Amino acid sequence: MGEHPVVEESISLFKEAGERAPELEGVPTGIEGLDDLFFTAVMKKGNPKKISLGGIPRYAIFNLTGIADTGKSLMVEQFAITRAGAGEKVVFITVESPAPFVAAGMKERAKIMGVPEENVEENIIFIDAASYHVVREDILSLLNTLAHVIKTYKTQHVVVDSITGLYENREMMARQVVRQIFNFLKKWHQTGLLVSQKRSGHEAFSSEAAGGYAVAHIVDGTFVLFKETIDSNYKERMYGLPIGEMVRLFRIDGCRLCGHDAETHLFEITEGGLVRIGPSLAELKKKK
Ligand SMILES: Nc1ncnc2c1ncn2[C@@H]1O[C@H](COP(=O)(O)OP(=O)(O)OP(=O)(O)O)[C@@H](O)[C@H]1O
Ligand SMILES: [Mg+2]
Repeated sequence: MGEHPVVEESISLFKEAGERAPELEGVPTGIEGLDDLFFTAVMKKGNPKKISLGGIPRYAIFNLTGIADTGKSLMVEQFAITRAGAGEKVVFITVESPAPFVAAGMKERAKIMGVPEENVEENIIFIDAASYHVVREDILSLLNTLAHVIKTYKTQHVVVDSITGLYENREMMARQVVRQIFNFLKKWHQTGLLVSQKRSGHEAFSSEAAGGYAVAHIVDGTFVLFKETIDSNYKERMYGLPIGEMVRLFRIDGCRLCGHDAETHLFEITEGGLVRIGPSLAELKKKK
């Protein structure tokens, strides 16, 4: 008691908690090949059958991780453009690159994607933490700014590129920062994509790669983006590419909210900068 109060609000019957749980629903990402990797199971003639969710689960908070140049920014920007095109409001917290630069790149890609410019202009709201150090360094200032944006614009989605930039040189803060953002996005019923930069040195394609600092345990799931160099005859045969070439790979490393594909997939960045997820390595092998 006293300094150690009983927190009545934290207690709920399973039944009440269950009633408050949101309906499982997919949010289309506009990333070819991604939306069908999430599914839900229905019973059909006594057997469970997978049906595609057609997107990432609404209200999920995902961590996207990979080393430099793997396509993390392109992927979250493509998601933001897609949702804006569908008339939904997206907060884009840019931590690495000032907002005007991000906007310029997104405008070009919106054209290629066939999303009208005015949709992107009106439905994406930037918080420029690259240019304003207070929002970058003071997490409570960032969350107050974000609450203001969510209320003012009635947003549904939040992108942070990158959360790593919010704890630069303060790596011991990583879990705390990510947990604060995670809890905040849950409270405000947002779907969230958080980019985290993997520093080379961590095991390349593991959950350690998920930002390292146990970020993966806090969020609902992780997307791992990876590059692999063709450096053996085995890989040469497998990918049908000569030694020295590079392939991009993608994997969903856990999702708490629904079923998901867990295989490693080929991943592609088109000339115009659109990302697209290809066949799994198992499918590729079968074709050979
Ligand atoms: N508009 C574009 N057209 C074609 N290719 C592009 C375009 N923009 C980026 N790319 C390619 O995609 C790669 C990945 O870009 P992206 O910025 O998404 O990487 P990232 O994973 O966010 O990297 P970082 O960790 O450095 O932020 C680039 O290195 C570039 O080769
Ligand atoms: Mg980036």
